Amino acid sequence: MMEILRKRRSIRKYTGQPVSRQARDLLVEALLRSPTSRNGKSWEFIVVDEAKLLESLSRAKPNGGAFLKEAALGIVIAADSTKSDVWVEDTAIAAVLVQATAEWLGLGSCWIQIRNRPHDAQVTAESFIQQLLGLPEHIKVASIISIGHPAESKPALPASELAYHKVRHNHYSTVL
Ligand SMILES: Cc1cc2nc3c(=O)[nH]c(=O)nc-3n(C[C@H](O)[C@H](O)[C@H](O)COP(=O)(O)O)c2cc1C
Repeated sequence: MMEILRKRRSIRKYTGQPVSRQARDLLVEALLRSPTSRNGKSWEFIVVDEAKLLESLSRAKPNGGAFLKEAALGIVIAADSTKSDVWVEDTAIAAVLVQATAEWLGLGSCWIQIRNRPHDAQVTAESFIQQLLGLPEHIKVASIISIGHPAESKPALPASELAYHKVRHNHYSTVL
């Protein structure tokens, strides 16, 4: 696990090679093994591999998602907001676990934020995707994870650059 966490970086360039059926099955298994509050499984996943759909999804927001059109897969991470008051957490856990699994499989991935992001001045990125993929209003879209064979490599962050100052012991500050 530490090896995967040390190596993982956001990969936004892909070779165009498809992801194998076996790898895709393992990615799906990772999603479905992710823990949820009260085991409510509020999440819903849409695995997208159609080039035309990936291109449309890459335009869900004006910035930070264009590379999705080059990816082999886009996994739309959504949730039924009526099933849990903490669906945001449920979806975030699934998203990071599928990214870690992609790394383990030698694939590159990147998180594309959708929740709370605009498509344009009138339409949210979420409703753009709800329209495109036929999602009802109560199925909320948290993010899309782009996945593909990496066409860029990035160095692991050295331990010396980790933000250890963010970690405190016992108290945040002197107790008054
Ligand atoms: C909640 C969240 C939202 C993110 N949204 C985007 C995004 O919309 N587009 C993008 O290219 N990267 C996005 N990222 C990736 C971050 O930019 C990236 O993880 C961060 O810069 C650290 O780089 P690293 O993943 O290579 O360690 C997001 C990451 C997180 C955790």
